[in-house]
Amino acid sequence: MKILFATSEVHPLIKTGGLADVSAALPAALQALGEDVRLLIPGYTPVLDKLENKRTVATFAVFPGQPEVRLLGAKMPETGVPVYVLDAPQYYSRVAGPYQYELGGDWPDNAMRFGMLSKVAATLGSALSPVAWRADIVHCNDWQSGLAPAYLQMTQSTHAKTVMTVHNMAFQGNFDRDWLEPLDLPQSCFDMHGVEFNGYLSFLKAGLHYADRIVTVSPTYAREIQTTEMGYGMQGLLTARNGDVSGILNGIDDQEWNPATDKYLAATYDSGDLAPKATVKLGLQQRLGLETNANAPVLGVVSRLTYQKGLDLLLESLPKLLDGGAQLVVLGSGEVDLERRYQQLAHRYPGRVSVTVRFDEALSHQVMAGADIFLMPSRFEPCGLNQMYGMRYGTPPVVRRTGGLADSVIDAKEADGTGFVFDETDSAVLYRTIVRAIECYRDENNFKRIQLNGMHRDVGWGNSAQRYIDLYRTIT
Ligand code: ADP
Ligand code: GLC
Repeated sequence: MKILFATSEVHPLIKTGGLADVSAALPAALQALGEDVRLLIPGYTPVLDKLENKRTVATFAVFPGQPEVRLLGAKMPETGVPVYVLDAPQYYSRVAGPYQYELGGDWPDNAMRFGMLSKVAATLGSALSPVAWRADIVHCNDWQSGLAPAYLQMTQSTHAKTVMTVHNMAFQGNFDRDWLEPLDLPQSCFDMHGVEFNGYLSFLKAGLHYADRIVTVSPTYAREIQTTEMGYGMQGLLTARNGDVSGILNGIDDQEWNPATDKYLAATYDSGDLAPKATVKLGLQQRLGLETNANAPVLGVVSRLTYQKGLDLLLESLPKLLDGGAQLVVLGSGEVDLERRYQQLAHRYPGRVSVTVRFDEALSHQVMAGADIFLMPSRFEPCGLNQMYGMRYGTPPVVRRTGGLADSVIDAKEADGTGFVFDETDSAVLYRTIVRAIECYRDENNFKRIQLNGMHRDVGWGNSAQRYIDLYRTIT
């Protein structure tokens, strides 16, 4: 099968969250299973800078009246997965993030930036493909490529089938209806049975309406988004299409995230010998200015600092934990208010709390390995990758039972437990669960059982990639 994987971020070229990790690892796993899979990604400045040996494979106009764009061909570093880069400097050659400018606001022309990505994805799956390769499946990811199924559906000739993976329903890409015309969409599709959602042109809604199959990144999230509480108003559509909706749990790249070979760690380890993990912990404490104390439980957080992640609940639970001797390491950025509150906590607890507000790939690996317990008290979590990295690094996670966290972490009370699970979105419950995790940490043999259970769990992509292939087969 020829599969086009359309995405707005991919590790190691450009990353804001888990979508980048999935966009790197899933296509590589599909390729390893023998599929002809290619990526499509916007030519943001860092993407053009990092990709070597690019060549122009096509030059064409995407929308009437717009200047021509170039499609570049290259291979992904390390995995060698072929990648098409949409080179349109007027839209993608910018300083700051892929979706937002430096002060945190969305780029005002995001509708055009990602409408163009969607249109090119659709074109590569149609008779008008500008290259000598035409996709059988266009696999879209989140709202940024959500218009591709709409464009394909409106194509007269035979065209690719579409899969829409929803990584996060909270991001919908809703824009003014005035964008219909520049995006070359007929007014007739601005309808409940089309791209319209609450009076806006919604890229996510378009994907959910027009795609042949809808996938979410965990089975529990696939059920949750069909409820009023978590469906963001799209639960009716999702329930009506229930037969086309499924959940496939993300895997992780177990080469990139492997404590036995991790290039960012001063000491590597595996389940046969966990002793070097203590060296990584001491190194982390030293580097971040924490008291070097092998016995202090180090709680780790690597996260976008947003409402989704429940880290405001954690703030309320922390003082008692820190007074009790725990340490906290936070790596994250996001909402200014949360950043500020965590930084204030670090000032209040010198030597006990370290807060790093930036994106730092190397440090994220070091926290994952050097912490004792990983915290992820998310309000909602479509899948979550960090809890799986934590398990693989012998750093059992504390998670709320929601979405992919519910599907990937087994509570320590079970014989095959891999972490600590709680139900209510409540800081007192979170506090008690962290206390339970710290008590377990003090009970060396029991803690080691949880660590090894997690390290031995298969969290790679093999099974889930095969499930995607099975799904593609049902529509080709
Ligand atoms: P989400 O995609 O909702 O942010 P995931 O758990 O799926 O959550 O994935 C988050 C990814 O982003 C992980 O690879 C995590 O290590 C990484 N990450 C988040 N914040 C940072 C940061 N400040 N520095 C480095 N990596 C980060
Ligand atoms: C989103 C979700 C996260 C998921 C990731 C990759 O960012 O918030 O839960 O793991 O996408 O699918």
